[in-house]
Amino acid sequence: MEEMKRSTESISGGLSLEMLLQRRPIYVTLFEYGTPRNVEAFEGESLMVALKRAGLPLLAVCGGKGACGTCKVTVHPAWAAKLREPEKRELRLLAHLKARVGERLSCQISLGSKLNNLEVHACDQPNTKENENVCCR
Ligand code: FES
Repeated sequence: MEEMKRSTESISGGLSLEMLLQRRPIYVTLFEYGTPRNVEAFEGESLMVALKRAGLPLLAVCGGKGACGTCKVTVHPAWAAKLREPEKRELRLLAHLKARVGERLSCQISLGSKLNNLEVHACDQPNTKENENVCCR
């Protein structure tokens, strides 16, 4: 039971299952290797938490502190302007990572109703042995 509780906490960003169920769900359209699928998310949680719960293999090494860059995703251009501007820390890390236009740290994107149906791309490159350390790095 305790292990199940810890597991739930690790995929929910520290929110209890009861707290998650009380929140209104929103949806993210995730394009993984170019294939779209709907990911259920909850207002107030980070995009990184929602994507990891949906099984996207983001490493998210720093646990959402905005310090590692291993949660980077690409936001569809139509949605990029609807996101909160990145803070200096995120901008510095994205510059260090040589991020392309539209790439953001998913842990720094807080989901809300205005972002319902947000379109996000991850793992756009073919899943091959050569790029296994590139995709979802
Ligand atoms: S999880 Fe480390 S920067 Fe997002």
